[in-house]
Amino acid sequence: MLEESTHSAASDESAKLAARFSPDFVLGVATAAFQIEGAADQDGRGDSIWDEFCRHPGAIADASNGLTACDHYHQLDADLDLIQSLGVSAYRFSVSWPRVQPLGQGDWNVLGFAFYDRLIEGLVKRGIAAHLTLYHWDLPQALEEQGGWRNPHTVECFVAYATQIGQRYGSRLASLCTFNEPWVVATLGHESGIFAPGLKDRKAATQVSHHLLLAHGKALLALRALGVTTKLGIVLNQAPQYPATASLADQDKARLDDGTLVRWYMDALFKASYPRDVLDYLGDDVPQIAAQDMQIISQPLDFIGINYYTRGVAATAKEKFESPYELTDMGWEIYPQGLYDLLVRLNTDYNLPAVYITENGAAFPDRLINGQVDDPARIRYLALHLAAVADAIASGVNVRGYFVWSLMDNFEWASGYAKRFGIVYVDYASFKRTLKSSALWLRDFTAFHASSVSQQKRA
Ligand code: FCB
Repeated sequence: MLEESTHSAASDESAKLAARFSPDFVLGVATAAFQIEGAADQDGRGDSIWDEFCRHPGAIADASNGLTACDHYHQLDADLDLIQSLGVSAYRFSVSWPRVQPLGQGDWNVLGFAFYDRLIEGLVKRGIAAHLTLYHWDLPQALEEQGGWRNPHTVECFVAYATQIGQRYGSRLASLCTFNEPWVVATLGHESGIFAPGLKDRKAATQVSHHLLLAHGKALLALRALGVTTKLGIVLNQAPQYPATASLADQDKARLDDGTLVRWYMDALFKASYPRDVLDYLGDDVPQIAAQDMQIISQPLDFIGINYYTRGVAATAKEKFESPYELTDMGWEIYPQGLYDLLVRLNTDYNLPAVYITENGAAFPDRLINGQVDDPARIRYLALHLAAVADAIASGVNVRGYFVWSLMDNFEWASGYAKRFGIVYVDYASFKRTLKSSALWLRDFTAFHASSVSQQKRA
């Protein structure tokens, strides 16, 4: 592949881009348990809030669920070979809590652990670094029935689960992340109700966000007390918020949106406080915060993961904001400059540890034609965002790695299977995987990076 394409202008571009990243820069692909595993009712796995949410009429656009998903649970070895074939050095995945502890407390499920043992061993054997996320949204349904993340008891259950995973796998992991995108869990799950568990209650949502952060801090304390040596961190979805117009109303909204999405989480983690303007805005809906909570939440982090897809636009006018930029199949603007702006701003406002872009990618309406999927728009998207990362590094931000979302097409939450984010196409009838042209591009890109690495070493 590399030989064939070496002389095209496009591959010259990729080679140049790859050479901008240092030898130890991590290039990886990412997935999450509920979105790919399937086998939701097998080998003792318990129900999660997403299994339950999928049963609500109208909750999922195509009325689908995670029962079979991409059948990754049964295709594990072939999928690990697929990851290896891309030449990436890292894989980010999540553990399904109800697969290893069906009720979220009490008995552990040995068959569940056996699956993640095989997954981690398979990565180690192939020389691929394992980046594990404890919680990518699939709370055991039994805990939801006791109040879920509204109940502080779930915090203690999470710490026990984190400890168990740390003990079993800690020494074989490159990193361990507590939560993926707590804003989504709190706000989309409990305020707008478009994600599981589907609540529409702002007071509950703010308490959930506080409990998630508290669970994060307590888990870090417990893992460090255990002597777990892998890198510990959290993953946040972040986006800079730009006012749609110069009006005062739009500027105020942009500031508030930045407060609820960015500063609420970043200030708590790095400054041991919630932003004053957001607390004022929340009024009676502020969470209950105990004396030591903010100290616990702001434990030192070994890394912070940033998921970036698009920017935020604050528009208060009645007319719909018309974007001047190209949109993805999610209707999200393609705006790589936002990633650069975000990284530079976070680096200015906070004392950041190592940064990883833990998710970045795009959905497009891909089609399989004559055994091939041509997705030039996704290649462009990835290249532009990688360039933004390289620019941010050149401006002094300590970004150590980048993970494409996603390895393969999967269950895109409330959008079901209709939105395809993969660099690998999945035929949901046969579960056959087909590398899209973006996967071939990434394979070339990792090869270019590896060869520029060996040149840098020789020099
Ligand atoms: C992120 C999620 C991930 C995926 C992408 C498109 O918010 O972490 O699971 O759904 O969006």
